[in-house]
Amino acid sequence: MKHYLQFTDFSADEYAYLFRRAALIKKKFKAYEKHHPLVDRTLAMIFEKASTRTRVSFEAGMYQLGGSVVHLTTGDSQLGRAEPIEDTARVISRMVDLVMIRTFEQTKIERFAAHSRVPVINGLTNEYHPCQILADLFTFIEQRSAPGQARPTDCLQGITVAWVGDGNNMANTWLQAASLLGFKVHVSTPRGYEIDAKMASSAGGISAGSYQFFSDPHEACKGADLVTTDVWTSMGYEAENAVRQEAFADWCVTPAMMAAARPDALFMHCLPAHRGEEVAAEVIDGPQSVVWDEAENRLHVQKALMEYLLLGTVA
Ligand code: CP
Ligand code: NVA
Repeated sequence: MKHYLQFTDFSADEYAYLFRRAALIKKKFKAYEKHHPLVDRTLAMIFEKASTRTRVSFEAGMYQLGGSVVHLTTGDSQLGRAEPIEDTARVISRMVDLVMIRTFEQTKIERFAAHSRVPVINGLTNEYHPCQILADLFTFIEQRSAPGQARPTDCLQGITVAWVGDGNNMANTWLQAASLLGFKVHVSTPRGYEIDAKMASSAGGISAGSYQFFSDPHEACKGADLVTTDVWTSMGYEAENAVRQEAFADWCVTPAMMAAARPDALFMHCLPAHRGEEVAAEVIDGPQSVVWDEAENRLHVQKALMEYLLLGTVA
């Protein structure tokens, strides 16, 4: 049994398979062709933080695969009344086939997984957001893969991704993906919001050569194939919002930053976005932005992920 708790839980070969499978599943979906490998299977989704995309993509995705879904939040379950996460895991995993959790500390999802009889998927923690990076990479591959390319991940080899903003769960996961799949991340964060040093080390699944730090976000964007950012204040850090607004003022992705990147560079944002804060409206609503494909692709990659966790490789 496999869990998907962080990006490093799968190998490069498994990602190559998943991206191929997601492309097929997407094609069938677009053609209104039924794809029901998970009939009679149930996904439990536990949300301890808010969500739009993650909830809709997992819920719609599971139904589209022929299965069904149970949705729980902290407030409407015993989780909010201090039932231990280990007991919750033992009980829920006797009743469903798969669990997706969005929560705070990564250790919480790890404790759940350690007591679960079924695969567990990370739907975002303070530390990581692997399902989002799965969708982001799939979107890049869709835009850039060349005909005749042996593996879908080949077009990622040697590219540069510019990360502008907070050293958060998304940034950590980009670094893990770069280390595993052979590309580089230029990271620019305000002072005090750098990627946690322990995360950005082999202990966090990150190799030293896979990232470079820039104090100037324009420098980070130079020659990038992809420029990406995220909210200045992630869920769980709302108390710091006023201080962050000041600290991050120069970390807004502007047309000038996009102009420093390659002429064909893409712009991505996991969403929700705040125009005029982490990204200028001209950028997110401009021709280089692929944010709507990126959001849609959550559906397709997670369908491939759920199928893989429950059925393994399908011929
Ligand atoms: N990108 C993302 O995970 O969005 P939600 O918070 O809406 O799920
Ligand atoms: N870094 C953001 C991502 C939201 C999808 C957060 O954790 O709130």
